Amino acid sequence: MIRSKILQFDSGDGTPAGWLLLLLLLLYSLPLDTIAKEAVSRGLPSAAVLNPAAELWRDVRQRDQPTTGSTQVRGVDSGVLINAYGDRWRKFRMQQLIPIGGYMLMGIVVVLAVFYLVRGKVPIEGGESDRKLPRYSTYERMIHWFIASIFLFLAITGLILLFGRPVLIPMLGKETFSILASACKEGHNLMGPLFLLALILVFIKFVRRNIYQKGDLSWLLRGGGIIGPKHVPSNFFNMGEKTMFWMLVLVGSLIVVSGLVLVFPLFGQGREWMELAHVGHAIGALLMIGVIIGHIYIGTIGMEGAIEGMKTGYCDLNWAKEHHDLWASRAEARGEALSNEAVGQLRDLDPLPSSLGARTQEAGK
Ligand code: HEM
Repeated sequence: MIRSKILQFDSGDGTPAGWLLLLLLLLYSLPLDTIAKEAVSRGLPSAAVLNPAAELWRDVRQRDQPTTGSTQVRGVDSGVLINAYGDRWRKFRMQQLIPIGGYMLMGIVVVLAVFYLVRGKVPIEGGESDRKLPRYSTYERMIHWFIASIFLFLAITGLILLFGRPVLIPMLGKETFSILASACKEGHNLMGPLFLLALILVFIKFVRRNIYQKGDLSWLLRGGGIIGPKHVPSNFFNMGEKTMFWMLVLVGSLIVVSGLVLVFPLFGQGREWMELAHVGHAIGALLMIGVIIGHIYIGTIGMEGAIEGMKTGYCDLNWAKEHHDLWASRAEARGEALSNEAVGQLRDLDPLPSSLGARTQEAGK
């Protein structure tokens, strides 16, 4: 039966094409047989068949440059036949970025939790005073909470995209996670450019008070006063805040530029650039999220009185003297300290005092 079928392929010149086909099949089966024997010799189950293209892929991984060909199709990377970068990037993401980034963030949270248990909330040692100093204008607080909400949104959606597979799929299942991940991706891409705007506004408003000054280094050398009981002299912003600001500006710019390269792949950037942008974006974001976790800790449960200025515009005079004494004494000497009642009345009359901006600018000197 098979023979009669094969003979139907007779090419007409007397050589049956069927026999040729059979010969080719036999020749093809030889390497498979060799592979199967090799599998058995390596102690694999006899049913296991090694990937016949394994050698090829092993070779591809050794190549530094992609294998290119020629094509009439116009487009970035259209002439690239095989590119090993993608595999290297995937392995880096799965085997280094995700585990190291995850442990780093968990480590920061654990260290802060231990620090809190040991040190507790840093109190206002002199207790709350009956006077306050104007610290932030409405505009300053507005742009602070603008960048804070954008950053937190981008951080949460970004972390879901990065750690979703190993962490959330086992908890939510693939279907639910896929809906969540798609929403996060769209939201992340949409809100990302707003972070650039927020960064520019924060830079313009706060840069002058974040320029390093004499005395900043001694603040750092004495651990910012948070470790020992002694107060360390500090200006409107201390060395820690200034360093956080410059990290935000520099690392934030890296995150923004790499993010734009990823969201708009329209400017001739190939896969290699996209992979590089992704790695820079993710490392920068993880670093910045780690720093901001520390910032939020100090602003909320870590230090009594710290958030008041960012919440109301005014800070307690004793808090100012204990944490920003150089600025506080200058502001007090200029007669800027107001009684709590006066601040209450001012805020009742005008909860968003527009004149505070100019005064705080002056106070920042
Ligand atoms: C819930 C989250 C946050 C809280 C509770 C918080 C709290 C605070 C507080 C209390 C201050 C004033 C410190 C002082 O008066 O000395 C401050 C300043 C500041 N915060 Fe936040 N913050 C949060 C999130 C963020 C985020 C996400 C960013 C940026 C991505 C950010 C950037 C800044 C900047 C730039 C300053 C001014 C400090 C400087 O320029 O050195 N904050 N924050």
